[in-house]
Amino acid sequence: MWGGRFSEGPDELLRRYTTSLPYDRRLWPHDLQQSVAHARMLGRQGIIPAQDAQRIVQGLEALAAEVRERPELLQGPDEDVHSALERLLVERIGPSGLRLHTARSRNDQVATDLRLYARAQLDRLDEAAGRLQEALLARAEEEAGTVMPGLTHLQPAQPVTLGHHLMAYVEMLFRDRDRLREARRRANVLPLGSGALAGAAFPVDRETVARELGFDQVSANSLDAVSDRDFACDLLYACSLLMVHLSRLGEELVLWNHPAFGFVELPDRLATGSSMMPQKKNPDAAELMRGRAGRVAGHLVALLMVLKGLPLAYNRDLQEDKEGLFDAVDQTLLSLQMATELIRSVRFRRDRMRAACTGDLLATELADYLTRRGMPFREAHAVVGRIVADLQGTGRTLDRLTVDELRRYSPLFAADAAQCLDVEAALRARRVVGGTAPDSVREAIAAARARLRRM
Ligand code: ARG
Repeated sequence: MWGGRFSEGPDELLRRYTTSLPYDRRLWPHDLQQSVAHARMLGRQGIIPAQDAQRIVQGLEALAAEVRERPELLQGPDEDVHSALERLLVERIGPSGLRLHTARSRNDQVATDLRLYARAQLDRLDEAAGRLQEALLARAEEEAGTVMPGLTHLQPAQPVTLGHHLMAYVEMLFRDRDRLREARRRANVLPLGSGALAGAAFPVDRETVARELGFDQVSANSLDAVSDRDFACDLLYACSLLMVHLSRLGEELVLWNHPAFGFVELPDRLATGSSMMPQKKNPDAAELMRGRAGRVAGHLVALLMVLKGLPLAYNRDLQEDKEGLFDAVDQTLLSLQMATELIRSVRFRRDRMRAACTGDLLATELADYLTRRGMPFREAHAVVGRIVADLQGTGRTLDRLTVDELRRYSPLFAADAAQCLDVEAALRARRVVGGTAPDSVREAIAAARARLRRM
């Protein structure tokens, strides 16, 4: 491929150290698709003879079928997938194939392949995130009125509905999908025609190639186009934050699965056992969802570190963009699938959730009651705080107190005070947009469904 100015071939160690074929071969469909568009354009523009262009296009199409059948074709000694495919093409169609690389460098070629890959994966991620949203919505609908303890600092705070809790993740995923779509928009720019760094020295028709490959526009600066991997960072960031959200969901499933919570039961087919402790039923899938978030975020940081300080334009360091990116995409897609399956099939234990809604969760209701009767909230907070303090160690909870007992703390407590010490009333009271009242949650579900239909 570049042997002309060399008196000996590459050392085996150098070859092993520099080859990217073992991992970049997954780019082959994009590379062939790009080459077909490029060869057609070269022929149309009269840059290479029309007959050669035709032979190349046919050769590339046949090669695509062949590689699909025999992936081991891409296990050669080549430096990367681009040189491997070009070698295979020339081996099949002869000298015409030698004209394919006219007006193209592997630098604009790899940037184009990677953008095609990013675009395709961003679409898959968006769809997979949409499927998880659908699963969450279906469960949220079933559980719109299910009470559970809402936590802050992992301490019992106020009652919420499970539907509301699940809908929180639907919202996160809307933002994740926005980020994926934004990343797609920025990835969808064609570098081809930038040459090695300075632009192609032939009358290439970049616009038509862009259209044929589905790009929105052509890149505006050749130096930037061959060395820019912002789009890969965008994709990695979108995956990282999505994984952070899945890790929070994973952590909640782990907690809820603990006997102390007992809020969920995983189906046996989605749980694992212990080789030593016969009683165990472990939530490994949820744990790995949590763990892999770290791995994916690591790939984002790794690429940022590769890019920092790189002089323009192409540097071989850029080859380090791939393994992390591929792994991040694979792991995020798998994690989305796993999360969807877990949400679809987990059994929510409503009885356990209700039992965990102890009287303390209603302390705010009591303070709000006094506030509605005219006491400044800060004072009401202090009054209820004293009640709670006095109950410590007695085994009694707020909702067990009689009105007479309450009146010892404030004369503002009247006969209706007991009514606010009720979980359902506490939920109903939060009938604000974005609140946990079952009716608000049902509205949120309807709004989310409408939004999903428009996407
Ligand atoms: N395998 C290389 C990469 O992924 C392709 C471009 C190589 N270009 C070069 N001039 N060595 O970045």
